[in-house]
Amino acid sequence: MTNADFEKIIDTSDEWITTRTGIKERRIARNGLQTSDMALEACRRALDMAVCPPEDIDVLIVGTVTPDYPLPSTACVIQEKLAFPNAVAFDIAAACAGFISGLSIARSMIESGTARKALVCGAEKLSTITDYSDRGTCVLFGDGAGAAVLEASDDEVGVVETYLRSDGSMREWLWIEAGGSNQPITPDFPFDGRDKILMNGSDIFKVAVREMTKACVKVLDDAGVSADDIALVVPHQANIRIIEGVAKRLQIGLDRFYLNIDRYGNTSAASVPLALDEANRNGRIRSGDYILMVAFGGGLIWGAALVKW
Ligand code: ACO
Repeated sequence: MTNADFEKIIDTSDEWITTRTGIKERRIARNGLQTSDMALEACRRALDMAVCPPEDIDVLIVGTVTPDYPLPSTACVIQEKLAFPNAVAFDIAAACAGFISGLSIARSMIESGTARKALVCGAEKLSTITDYSDRGTCVLFGDGAGAAVLEASDDEVGVVETYLRSDGSMREWLWIEAGGSNQPITPDFPFDGRDKILMNGSDIFKVAVREMTKACVKVLDDAGVSADDIALVVPHQANIRIIEGVAKRLQIGLDRFYLNIDRYGNTSAASVPLALDEANRNGRIRSGDYILMVAFGGGLIWGAALVKW
């Protein structure tokens, strides 16, 4: 869906969307294509690239705020379709920080010996929770999925550091008010937009720039790695101006940030793995590179991960 498509349905312009967000187009999944279908494809491609048969996977973690069902988890749907019964599969609702949260949990499980191989996925069908009459949010979001395989290794590579934080006091800055136990959708529910994403974008913007920067500095300091050593930053793609703000504060040139926001918009938990996969397949990542991932989303929740490739 292009910015021109939005010009036909709401009061907006390609110029506003491009200059304020960096987004030119986003992918919208067709009716009938579920979050698990996109996640399944991403998981299959990750397993192929890792030359890892599904039955070797000990844990599947899916970051999503748009599961196929309230119950069971989307991870369990994928587990059945990929056929790896001797594993545990579960979702985490950490919004745009879903993939980095999954990476952190998978790393802990591998380091503790609970799992040898982990599949971590971020997948969203945000079009199902987007209010297409709200110009302040609808132009931002897209659908997609990405995945990565992690495995135990004695080599000096892998997830070096992770950092996660949240602050629930700002939860109403980005939320879906209705549809949960607090406000169930009853037969007389007015469908007045409260069952879709509501966002206080400008306040989130400032916290995102500040906390994403701090999260990056924290993992770099903890790992004893300098910003100059980072080959590529793979940020959550919410707004090009947020990424520019983080780049400036970290004093890392924008040329060392992987950007694909122009083509996908904000895909929440899918954003970081989509960008990571593109960067990898495009040859932007070489063996031994330090890769810094960082994300921020509804909760509010944020985090960063430093990986040696
Ligand atoms: N087209 C034209 N005008 C628009 C549009 C639009 N699509 N959307 C808003 N405007 C207008 C507003 O109505 C307002 O007009 P007014 O001044 O007459 O009232 C004006 O533009 C400015 O609005 P702001 O909200 O102040 O615009 P801002 O520059 O802050 O950009 C945006 C809005 C893009 C949402 C930005 O604040 C942002 O990216 N915030 C962060 C979002 C984010 O990172 N969320 C977390 C991750 S998402 C997740 O977890 C699922």
